[in-house]
Amino acid sequence: MQRDFAAAIAAGRAAGAVAAIAAVIAAAVVTPVAADSVARAAVPGDPARGEKVYERCEGCHAIDRDRIGPRHKGVVGRKAGSIDGFAYSSAMKTSGLTWDEATLDRFLQGPTRLVPGTRMGFAGVPVEQDRADLIAYLKKAGE
Ligand code: HEC
Repeated sequence: MQRDFAAAIAAGRAAGAVAAIAAVIAAAVVTPVAADSVARAAVPGDPARGEKVYERCEGCHAIDRDRIGPRHKGVVGRKAGSIDGFAYSSAMKTSGLTWDEATLDRFLQGPTRLVPGTRMGFAGVPVEQDRADLIAYLKKAGE
């Protein structure tokens, strides 16, 4: 009898632990979705925030000079693959794209999805608000 009671308490504790773990998992799953819907409501971009997001690009890019990636000055409104003397992939040179808010937003979601074969080895910027801020910064940096 005593034993059964102890077992019941242990089972109860285990169930509690399972519930607690489930709550943690639920919170982890729900939080990014909530953050994303907040971001969606907020989309025009903030160039000051975008300058911070641009730190993710600075391993390869600069505004004023070519590095591993081409310079970004004037990129909004520019034809893809059009900086003279930069060694683009043929995929980029023949993409036929012009960089505007819409094409940049798509490219930055997944570079190889929009330009299969691009040499830009970068997974992308998953959060829509980050992309909007980044594009606002790139626009300003090109002025
Ligand atoms: C690991 C290095 C790397 C990182 C990080 C990187 N890029 Fe690039 N990027 C490249 C390379 C290399 C190219 C040239 C791609 C090609 O020729 O296919 C490129 C090309 C581009 C182009 C096309 C430019 C043109 O002249 O047509 C844009 C726009 C761009 N990158 C934006 C970004 C932004 C914004 C970020 C940060 C969120 C970023 N990149 C991060 C390496 C990188």
